[in-house]
Amino acid sequence: MNMTDRYAVFGNPIGHSKSPSIHAVFAAETNQALRYEAILAPIDAFEASFSEFAANHGLGANVTVPFKEQAFSLCDELSEQARLAGAVNTLSVLSDGKIRGDNTDGLGLVADLQRHFGCLKGKRVLLVGAGGAARGSVLPLLQANIAELTIVNRTQSKAEALVDIFNHYGQVRAQAIAHTGQNYDVIINSTSSSLSGEVPNLSAEVIRADTVCYDMMYGKEQTAFNLWAAEQGAKRTIDGLGMLVGQAAESFLIWRGVKPSMETVLNQLRAEL
Ligand code: ATR
Repeated sequence: MNMTDRYAVFGNPIGHSKSPSIHAVFAAETNQALRYEAILAPIDAFEASFSEFAANHGLGANVTVPFKEQAFSLCDELSEQARLAGAVNTLSVLSDGKIRGDNTDGLGLVADLQRHFGCLKGKRVLLVGAGGAARGSVLPLLQANIAELTIVNRTQSKAEALVDIFNHYGQVRAQAIAHTGQNYDVIINSTSSSLSGEVPNLSAEVIRADTVCYDMMYGKEQTAFNLWAAEQGAKRTIDGLGMLVGQAAESFLIWRGVKPSMETVLNQLRAEL
């Protein structure tokens, strides 16, 4: 095994990224010798920064805010999931030097939901938001055999645009965010509203006593969305820490061919919050 196999996460800012410690745990657990570092790419020079990394034994990289669309543009090959997401969070340097792009964010979400639920087959799912985080989640959700996906967003036209992209792949529709009269098995908040302590303008009727709510955000305290969901009587609220670990595990699988378990690192991160 090559001791210099190099991996990294690129972002700006990057100082607080948990990816290096997540991948260090994965590497130890699966007996893989590799280095994984955090690289602060200049805002206007992501591509040059990644090229330098690839020229210096870099084999793969995660990409985070604000470079996922730029990462998408530099790839020679894309997975279907990355192509449809319009964004790349996982870059791999292939043996012929070509760059392949994947997007594991939505797979991480589904992996975490499956950890909590078991199977998602037949579930009626409401996805709140229509930005990059939502777009990366639609195909993995549809491929998990859910019964139907409803997308709502503050700006409804963006939810409709997502439906146009994905309606060949499964049962997906857009609705007005404050629509009433329907409830869901699973409600996923992909918006950044919890960052500012706000809650999307959903009708409380979307939640019934056995609804599970998931906020892609996470933190020491309950997120604003999950607090709201609990107040409306949701059976369970889950934050996005497991999605973070899940996307990392899927990237690790792409690079190393072995899938690490999520539990060890998740418990460690939860304790550190
Ligand atoms: P990301 O890549 O994290 O998804 P984004 O592409 O900027 O970020 O998308 C942000 C999403 O959060 C959008 O769906 C946005 O709604 P609009 O399309 O109407 O802007 C949503 N959002 C952000 N703040 C919100 C708030 N306070 N209430 C409801 N939705 C919010």
